[in-house]
Amino acid sequence: MEFSEVVQRRFSVKSYDPDKTISDAELKEFFDEVVLSPSSFNLQHWTFIAVRESDIKRQLKEAAWGQAQMEDCSVAVLVCGKLDAYQDAPEIYKEAPGAIQEKVLPLIQNFYGDNHQLQRDEAIRSASLAAMTMMYGAVDRGWGACPMIGFDPEAVTKILKLTPNLIPVMFIVLGHQKNAPRPRSYRHPVQDVVRLNTLDGPGLNGA
Ligand SMILES: Cc1cc2nc3c(=O)[nH]c(=O)nc-3n(C[C@H](O)[C@H](O)[C@H](O)COP(=O)(O)O)c2cc1C
Repeated sequence: MEFSEVVQRRFSVKSYDPDKTISDAELKEFFDEVVLSPSSFNLQHWTFIAVRESDIKRQLKEAAWGQAQMEDCSVAVLVCGKLDAYQDAPEIYKEAPGAIQEKVLPLIQNFYGDNHQLQRDEAIRSASLAAMTMMYGAVDRGWGACPMIGFDPEAVTKILKLTPNLIPVMFIVLGHQKNAPRPRSYRHPVQDVVRLNTLDGPGLNGA
């Protein structure tokens, strides 16, 4: 599928056929692409928890204020942000030339080490970029996907047994769409949201 078609076709799918499944092999191929998403210093501040088991999905639905897509989807994926991803730098850079390691490793440590706000911001940024790759990857495979933050993070942390270094960023539920696509929802005009050069510059109108 052409990329622009993928973009045009993507919308948040809210109703899924609960009898359809996505196999481990399909998920593996999917995530092989998702992990190609960009991240600051290539720290890959993400962990994905792919839930297919009905009983756990049911608990997640309760934690998501009864939103049906959490249970009816084939796989509910919690995209977690990894707060301590900077500590993986030695592993990530182990094959880099010595001169690069000597420069980058202390830089990463100084940048993130004591800055909890930055650790959190970065985890959310990188995990969100991976989530976007997931949504486009889903469309490309003919699956539906819906991003979700409508849930109780503490309950989800407990159900999915998250460790303190992981924060729930959003769910991406994946599955086979049941109903016809909805009409495209409202978007602000491009010329209102794209300003040229400075915020008080003209809006982009393409003319
Ligand atoms: C971070 C995020 C959280 C969202 N949370 C939910 C959610 O909990 N439940 C839901 O039905 N839709 C959720 N959505 C979907 C939005 O409602 C949807 O993206 C928006 O209305 C635009 O529609 P579209 O995605 O179909 O183009 C979420 C979207 C984003 C990006």
